[in-house]
Amino acid sequence: MTSQTDENNNNGGIVPPPDIPPRGLWENCIHSMWRTPLGLIGLATTTISIVLMLISLTIDMLGLVHNAYFAAFSYMILPGFMILGLLIIPFACYIHSRHWFKDSLGAELSDKALCIDLSNPRHKKYLVGFIALTVVNMSILTIIGYEGYQFTDSPYFCGQLCHKVMAPEYTAYLRSPHARVRCVECHIGPGVSWFVKAKISGLRQVVAVITGNYPRPIPTPVEHLRPARDTCEQCHWPDKFSGKKVLTFYSFTDKDQIHPQKEVIALHLGGRNPYTGKFEGIHWHVSKDVKVEYLALNRKRTKIGTVKVTLPNGVTEEFDSDQVPAKGQKGTWRTMDCLDCHNRPTHNFDRLDDRVDFGLMTKAIDPLIPGIRADSLTVLTKKYVSRDQAREQIVGALMDLQAKRNGDAFVKKNGAQIVKAGQFLLTSYLRNIWPSMKITWGTYKLQLGHRDADEGYGCWRCHDDEHKTKFGKVIPQDCDLCHDEPN
Ligand code: HEC
Ligand code: HEC
Ligand code: HEC
Ligand code: HEC
Ligand code: HEC
Repeated sequence: MTSQTDENNNNGGIVPPPDIPPRGLWENCIHSMWRTPLGLIGLATTTISIVLMLISLTIDMLGLVHNAYFAAFSYMILPGFMILGLLIIPFACYIHSRHWFKDSLGAELSDKALCIDLSNPRHKKYLVGFIALTVVNMSILTIIGYEGYQFTDSPYFCGQLCHKVMAPEYTAYLRSPHARVRCVECHIGPGVSWFVKAKISGLRQVVAVITGNYPRPIPTPVEHLRPARDTCEQCHWPDKFSGKKVLTFYSFTDKDQIHPQKEVIALHLGGRNPYTGKFEGIHWHVSKDVKVEYLALNRKRTKIGTVKVTLPNGVTEEFDSDQVPAKGQKGTWRTMDCLDCHNRPTHNFDRLDDRVDFGLMTKAIDPLIPGIRADSLTVLTKKYVSRDQAREQIVGALMDLQAKRNGDAFVKKNGAQIVKAGQFLLTSYLRNIWPSMKITWGTYKLQLGHRDADEGYGCWRCHDDEHKTKFGKVIPQDCDLCHDEPN
């Protein structure tokens, strides 16, 4: 700005009036929008994106199209183009004005050129136009931004847009008790900082998906998953008293596929007992009165070292075990929460035998067909290179096995029943197996209970009679601690 005063002082600020008044800088800018190719590109990009955005918004609001790609285009790609167009316009103006500075008297006017002179009716017109357009643009961007935010938080964005990667989780989710809970409520939870963290890690994941550089299967437990207190406990609360919960398990064997074996247990779920006010039973671990921490010796948390219990009066008890971390790994401390038992509250895949036994129980697989249980297990554990190959082969494979076992005449007579069983097996396969993600039976195991105790999953990680305090007190494995027979 010093140059201005210098200049003014030096030549008295006198500028000879030109014959044709030169275009002012503002006029020149507006001119550049219409008259230069770059300006036109900017203008066209903005206008076309806005029009398309308004059309898609209307289509979406009327519910005419329900498609993740359509939404991604409307709420992520079009706004990108609109902003690009809006950036091109001032850039075109700048390029154009460089000439203006050079080849007109503008050079001398330049210092005043950027002023907005409200007494000049053209300036006034442009200013009003500019403000009106900005308000319109900002409103459109806000609406689209909001819709975009809703969209990127929706299960069908998470589950479908990344369909190859998330399909297994999405499929299991859709049949779970949480099918109406949005992914973000467990994976992100409330609050701005987690939201920002999630969007940043989301961007990284998008890059990983595009480059194909991600682990298969997706490893679990999910590192840096938000503590359950901020997610699950938004809807559930540990104090809720559930008392006893009776569960019935049915199973068959290859020898007897007609009469189910029935196992009934009454789980001591507990909670805060309304009669005694004491926190008791299985949900005791997550009561606000106690804190249970443990040293996980491996990444999967299937080997557990020291377990530390802190009681409300500050007294702590330590249960030590002889287990040591695998070579090259060191333990990590973790405070026990819902996810140490309910690790698959929503992405719960079927167990192989459970699924076949369920088929027998519901007669989707006719138990009267000799050997059908064994053959079903064989068909389901066969390797198929893709889900498409399974679609083509499963029913036929069951027919072949049955023909070998019971003869062609039998298969001919009972064809309809065998095909029905085959179709049930195919659906079972498609619910659970994704060769492209290396997900097969038992890839993701449940911590709830002790059915995979051999591999270190479940309650018996701690309740093994071997985690001991100095005084010899153990974390007990008595069956009666957790369940008894209902009466
Ligand atoms: C009720 C809560 C909940 C909802 C809703 C939910 N998840 Fe999960 N998700 C979890 C938990 C818990 C884990 C496993 C955490 C662990 O073991 O560390 C998990 C794990 C995952 C994993 C890691 C791989 C695996 O199977 O362990 C992916 C991927 C995933 N979820 C995607 C999704 C998608 C996509 C949606 C929505 C369609 C969704 N989740 C909805 C709770 C939820
Ligand atoms: C947005 C609310 C919401 C969130 C968050 C949520 N849940 Fe749920 N959960 C529900 C509802 C609703 C039901 C009951 C569904 C029904 O009975 O159909 C339910 C049911 C359950 C059940 C009983 C399932 C059954 O088989 O009956 C368990 C266990 C459970 N949730 C655990 C969790 C865990 C663990 C988390 C955190 C990872 C969690 N929930 C997060 C709403 C939620
Ligand atoms: C020590 C293991 C453990 C922990 C920790 C745990 N749960 Fe559970 N929970 C269970 C078991 C076992 C069941 C019964 C499972 C079944 O129904 O198959 C259960 C059942 C439930 C149910 C269904 C209750 C009903 O009446 O049917 C809900 C809801 C639930 N838990 C939520 C939670 C939440 C939320 C947390 C964390 C605050 C939590 N649980 C922590 C073991 C646990
Ligand atoms: C991380 C270790 C750990 C895991 C995993 C674990 N528990 Fe526990 N549990 C404990 C400890 C420690 C105690 C307290 C033992 C004591 O002081 O006698 C306990 C106590 C209990 C109690 C008695 C609570 C009371 O009323 O005082 C029940 C019931 C129980 N656990 C059930 C389960 C079930 C069911 C599972 C699996 C779904 C499970 N636990 C998984 C560590 C664990
Ligand atoms: C630390 C708690 C705990 C202890 C100790 C325990 N159980 Fe269980 N058990 C469970 C839970 C939780 C389930 C339910 C799992 C589910 O919902 O799938 C279960 C389920 C079962 C089932 C039905 C599922 C199946 O595996 O077929 C049987 C049978 C069973 N337990 C037997 C026993 C016996 C026998 C003992 C004593 C050696 C025992 N349990 C000790 C927690 C325990």
